[in-house]
Amino acid sequence: MTGRAAAPAAVIAGIGRYLPPDVVTNDDLAARLDTSDEWIRSRTGIASRHVIAPGTATSDLAVEAGRRALASAGGGGAEAVVLATTTPDQPCPATAPLVADRLGLGRVAAFDVSSVCSGFLYGLATAAGLIASGTAENVLLIAADAFTTIIDPADRSTAVIFADGAGAVLLRSGLPNEPGAVGRVVLGSDGSLGGLIEVPAGGSRQRSSGVAAGPGEDFFRMRGRETFRHAVGRMAESSRTALAAAGWDGPLAADRFAAHQANGRILTAVAEELGIPPERRLSNIERTGNTGAASLAVLLAEATARGELAAGHKTLLTAFGGGLAWGATSLLWPELKTVDD
Ligand code: UT7
Repeated sequence: MTGRAAAPAAVIAGIGRYLPPDVVTNDDLAARLDTSDEWIRSRTGIASRHVIAPGTATSDLAVEAGRRALASAGGGGAEAVVLATTTPDQPCPATAPLVADRLGLGRVAAFDVSSVCSGFLYGLATAAGLIASGTAENVLLIAADAFTTIIDPADRSTAVIFADGAGAVLLRSGLPNEPGAVGRVVLGSDGSLGGLIEVPAGGSRQRSSGVAAGPGEDFFRMRGRETFRHAVGRMAESSRTALAAAGWDGPLAADRFAAHQANGRILTAVAEELGIPPERRLSNIERTGNTGAASLAVLLAEATARGELAAGHKTLLTAFGGGLAWGATSLLWPELKTVDD
């Protein structure tokens, strides 16, 4: 009897991150907005964030992070580039082909994934599918956002939270049970709540209406308090499903918990709901703010570089954001070299 061979798994073989050098502190924001360092720290856990210089685009961040992930994996290429972003360089074409070209990867498959702050997890599932189907042997997944380009600088409720950055992983074809193999990615969405996080204008709905965008409609808007509630519930729920899919014996089986860096209070609430103790929670929101799709990838790359996330750690990942869209997955963290610092 001949059985079908198991599909290859996507295995993380390299990781990198890039944060633009310019830093904005809470006091910098308080100098031009009706806010304070105390409010921002206590409500979000953020002290400072990295922002792009004028003229910089998402592809500039993505190329830097992608280059580092490729170097971390040993300097080879990739047969496909998947770029998770909410802030493409232009509405058309996708930004990934430009990034692939600038990385010198040749005429490889390249496309964008749009899933706001869950983009890295949606990108992981997409990259894993490319590998499982035999479309690509290895995939460079980059998650990058120049989020400050869609934030209304006068809106204190979002301007203090969102920031810019990029993270990347090189995924290679491997075995499902080896370190670094990405587990089942649990994904979900609820479009009926799309209005909680949106940029109202600039798409086909507004353009076909023949009515010009109203004041501020080109900017990102978030109904924070309602979003908060959904974020906690959906991340906790998808984390439990991912743990069960991995066959792990509940949240306490996870050595490390990495969640989208949306808000320090959200991270605490999700971890407490799951019963994950503080020393197992990874967080860098204090220094990065919320970098959208990039957030989880930047966190993983930074934690690896700092040794907070190391080979053998059973790691639980989860994210939540506009769409609404969310997800979670698990993996045994592999041995990785980092080249960031
Ligand atoms: O990444 C994608 C997913 N994103 C999230 O999951 C984010 C979810 N939401 C949040 O992180 C929080 O809801 C925020 C940080 C956005 C807001 O925190 P909050 O504790 O939910 O505050 P709130 O929106 O309920 O506002 C409380 C008060 C309001 O004043 P009043 O109405 O009570 O007088 C706001 O106007 O805080 C005011 N406020 C501010 N005050 C000083 C809002 N932003 C600021 C600010 N500085 N920057």
